[in-house]
Amino acid sequence: MTSSTAKAQVGVIGLAVMGSNLARNFASHGHTVALYNRTTARTDEMMVAYGAEGAFLAAPTLEEFVDSLERPRRVIIMVKAGMGTDAVIEQVKEHLEPGDIIVDGGNAHFEDTRRREKALRAEGLHFVGTGISGGEEGALKGPSIMPGGSRESYEALGPLLEDISAKVDGEPCCAYMGPDGAGHFVKMVHNGIEYADMQFIAEAYDVLSAAGLSAAEVSDVFREWNTGDLDSYLIEITSEVLDQVDAATGRPLVEVITDAAEQKGTGRWTVQSALELGVPVNTIAESVFARSTSGHPALRSAGQAALSGPDRALEVTDRQSLVDDVRAALWSAKVVAYAQGLDQIRTASETYDWGVDIAEVARIWRAGCIIRARLLERIRGEYAAGDLTTLLEAESIAAELGQAQDAWRRVVALATTAGVPVPGFSAALAYYDTVRAPRLPAALVQGLRDFFGAHTYGRTDRPGAFHTLWSGDRSEVEA
Ligand code: 6PG
Repeated sequence: MTSSTAKAQVGVIGLAVMGSNLARNFASHGHTVALYNRTTARTDEMMVAYGAEGAFLAAPTLEEFVDSLERPRRVIIMVKAGMGTDAVIEQVKEHLEPGDIIVDGGNAHFEDTRRREKALRAEGLHFVGTGISGGEEGALKGPSIMPGGSRESYEALGPLLEDISAKVDGEPCCAYMGPDGAGHFVKMVHNGIEYADMQFIAEAYDVLSAAGLSAAEVSDVFREWNTGDLDSYLIEITSEVLDQVDAATGRPLVEVITDAAEQKGTGRWTVQSALELGVPVNTIAESVFARSTSGHPALRSAGQAALSGPDRALEVTDRQSLVDDVRAALWSAKVVAYAQGLDQIRTASETYDWGVDIAEVARIWRAGCIIRARLLERIRGEYAAGDLTTLLEAESIAAELGQAQDAWRRVVALATTAGVPVPGFSAALAYYDTVRAPRLPAALVQGLRDFFGAHTYGRTDRPGAFHTLWSGDRSEVEA
């Protein structure tokens, strides 16, 4: 507790686990933290449980909450993204003054953030949409933080966020992403890459299981992979989840979990945005659709009843070779997903004039967030060394993909022949082969479009748009 005259450097509205952990994180770094929750009992519970951890100013009303904050006031809203955020903004802004800062730490859609930022800017208030990644533990011990909003607001807010963020060699995993919705956009794409990462991991598990490895054996494989260039949070926890034995049945827990993946929507938003921006993110799209298909019981029942195919038995003579091939496929597909996600951020940054620094994005994703991985230091270095059209053209990345591709192709071919679905591995490989192809069958697509819709086509040998008189003498005219 703190004396009533003290002023808080930051205030948190919304004291569910994420909000209260974030408040505790600020307090553990020596900041005085104002607290408010619509249900006062929640605030009281938090003070009983954690009040001794640091300097908290628990406020029963929003007015008292705002009054306890030093200027410029920094108000962090930690409520479920959606209408609730707008409601809290409307309630709290009445008590704020020009120059004060409202921060939305939820997984809001970046277009909502752009709308809110514009409206509040007109009222003299700063609105900062920030991604906060790392789950409940990250909020408490050090998340990766991706703030947007005005550069001016970052001057007042950034040092506190950097203070509580995860660190790599002392460097905070927090940096100014760009104006208005840039922060929430970067977080959205982080989640899109997270979906793809998790899909590839699931496919690796599926292929190795089809080859006869038990969950415990696959767990050991992932534990070993986590010591090399696949070193990452998701690989690490995969080993933990696969090792877990279900107390009720004595079976591996993963074998008694319902095989229908759910999704709160950030992966879907990533793909919707990519379609609007015209950025191919087929690995992320396949991971979203894989979740949708898994969660479609009627479709799957009909498929199981009607469709024949191989029985998934993967006959392998040399298990270690298969394990090595799957590792190569997993690493390669992961690189493609990062390349696609970062391409989407770069394209959005150009579209919305955000000026996002991709090397900075990779730098702050190195720790704290769900996709934290050793690979991100390498990606940071490649983008810091010079602008890339795609991560795949970075010399060392391209060389490693070149060496890994035979194994990658073997895994896709083996799985496909055995009837083991690998939509993620396949999509990543198709993207790899598409972007490197000197000639694509899109030419035939253009011919077909011109045949039925007179949509015209270009020619390889001269500029202009052309149309063939398909229903006439089939001569070609310049459009
Ligand atoms: C994070 C997580 C977090 C949330 C996931 C779950 O960065 O800390 O990504 O945002 O746990 O978004 O989302 P799904 O339910 O869509 O998988």
